[in-house]
Amino acid sequence: MNQLTIKDIPQKNLENKKVLVRVDFNVPLEKKDGQIFITNDLRIRASLPTINYLTDSKAIVVLVSHLGRPKGFDSDLKMDPVANRLSELLGKKIIKLNDSIGPEVENAIESLKSGDVCLLENIRFYKEEEENDTEFARKLAKRFDIYVNDAFGTSHRAHASTAGVCAYLHPSLSGLLLEKEVDSLNKVLTNPTRPFTTILGGSKISSKIEVIKQLIPKVDTLLIGGA
Ligand code: 3PG
Repeated sequence: MNQLTIKDIPQKNLENKKVLVRVDFNVPLEKKDGQIFITNDLRIRASLPTINYLTDSKAIVVLVSHLGRPKGFDSDLKMDPVANRLSELLGKKIIKLNDSIGPEVENAIESLKSGDVCLLENIRFYKEEEENDTEFARKLAKRFDIYVNDAFGTSHRAHASTAGVCAYLHPSLSGLLLEKEVDSLNKVLTNPTRPFTTILGGSKISSKIEVIKQLIPKVDTLLIGGA
């Protein structure tokens, strides 16, 4: 991968740095007896190598993600269940904030220590996220030194937390999951073992039409499932 990743810079350059990490914690949820449960935590587990690498490097790690497609604030789509599961997986306390921008968030970020892991509130509670609003991206970037994108599943969207924020944070680096996904894709697309069969799933097939068009000339068989 040509893009610089977190392993391409000296580890000491991460020490005590406030790192904003865009992750894709858009996990499936189920509501039972008024309580929200995560039904599949794969995306949270997939982010662990990047988080562990950054905390081992003594960085201050602040994670940001969307969850679902809220239209404004939605108490069912708060990041709290994700913070709890992440805390179990990492075996340490996660500092969960109730907002993603603003003075309270900035003060909380200032008080974090090297090795801390903090999770911001669902970034899509702000419509400015999907509008890729420059002022919103500037506010989100405030107080950080470094940006890391580890949200492979969201990187096709030019939103404030995936694209806009890069104008304000240098360096902007790839995380280990993003690197792994791009490398695996490149490998199968440039030099696949034949016969080459692709299985494409998920619920949002309409947004995958462009991907399907790109794949058709490359694959021997394309299987499409899901909705
Ligand atoms: C996904 O689940 O496909 C990604 O998290 C992107 O979500 P979105 O389609 O709501 O932008």
